[in-house]
Parts: sequence; structure tokens; C-alpha cells
Amino acid sequence: MSPAAERGRRARLFFALWPGESARAALAAWSRELRALCGGRAPHPQDLHLTLAFLGSLDADRIAAIERAAGEVAPRAATLVLDRPGFWKHNRIVWAGASSPPPELETLVADLRGALARSGAAFDAKRFVSHVTLLRDAREPPSLPALEPIRWEFEGFALAGSSQRSGGSRYEILRAW
Ligand code: 2AM
Repeated sequence: MSPAAERGRRARLFFALWPGESARAALAAWSRELRALCGGRAPHPQDLHLTLAFLGSLDADRIAAIERAAGEVAPRAATLVLDRPGFWKHNRIVWAGASSPPPELETLVADLRGALARSGAAFDAKRFVSHVTLLRDAREPPSLPALEPIRWEFEGFALAGSSQRSGGSRYEILRAW
């Protein structure tokens, strides 16, 4: 069993982009600012991420095929500018989004999801909407403030798993490409 399979054993798995230091600090600052307005629970700053494909719980013996599929995907590098906060009523999430995501991000998601589909892996096929969750269980704000845009230079992507801890779930990067 690969180390990722070992650690991902009963985890909920997903592929995501993880921000570097400066984008993470800026996202955490947005989260604090928006929490003053909407309440809710902020993720741990180290857990802030942008999901590319959500796989859910998998048997450990499926993980090798997932990793092989991810290995076929050409990583993309580009700058994502997160320039608008948003609120979704249906799940009470406050998020950071991009008014014009770079085409490289859409390509990365399409390539990754295509490789997963060819490998027979099941994933949530909901249309991709680039967003970083900043608050859960939030209240709908009367309006959302304009915030300083965040530049996130991404390259590569990660397979992550969630694990239950006393303060809620935390994420762990199992493998990066
Ligand atoms: P969210 O932030 O919008 O909730 C781990 O749960 C990550 O996978 C989160 O970023 C979550 O997005 C994302 N995700 C995507 N589809 C999901 C699904 N069907 N169930 C749970 N999480 C999902």
C-alpha cells in the first residue's frame, strides 16, 4: 500500500490547489473580516484550499489508480486573482471567488476529471466553480464588502484527505504533483 493509501484509508479524498504563504495569509485575513459580518466557522488557515475534484470516501485499494490518473495530468501554472467574496444560501458558505479565472485552471480541472473518469474513479461531477471556502454555517450578510484582490500564483496540485479531530475536520495533503 502506498503511503498516501495508508494515510487516506478511510478519509474523504479530494484534489485541490493549496495556496502559498502570501495567498494563504490574505485568504485568512478575508475570512476574519467576513466573519465579523457573517459569523460562522473559519477553517484553520493551513486548511484553506480550492477543490478541483471531490472523490469522497474510497477504499485504500482504489487510491493507486487515482494516483496513476493524477500522474497523467500536466500540471498548469497561472495566476488566479480572487477578487470577490460570495455567499451561498443553500449551504451557508462564505467563499472567495474569481470574476475571471485563468483558462489554465479550467483546463487543469477538465484534464484531471477526464483522467479520473478514464481510470474509472467516481467523483462529484458538479460543474466546477472556483471558490475557496472561508466560513461555514455563516449568516447571510446584507451585502458583501469589496476586499483587496488576492493574487494566487499556483503550480501543481495535491491529493488531500479530511480527518476528524476534536475541533472538527482537518485536512492533510497526501501527495502533491
Ligand atoms: P466546499 O468548500 O465548497 O464545501 C472537502 O470537503 C472539500 O471538497 C471542500 O472544499 C468541499 O467544498 C469540496 N467538495 C466538493 N464537492 C463536495 C461534496 N459533494 N461533498 C463534500 N465536499 C465537497
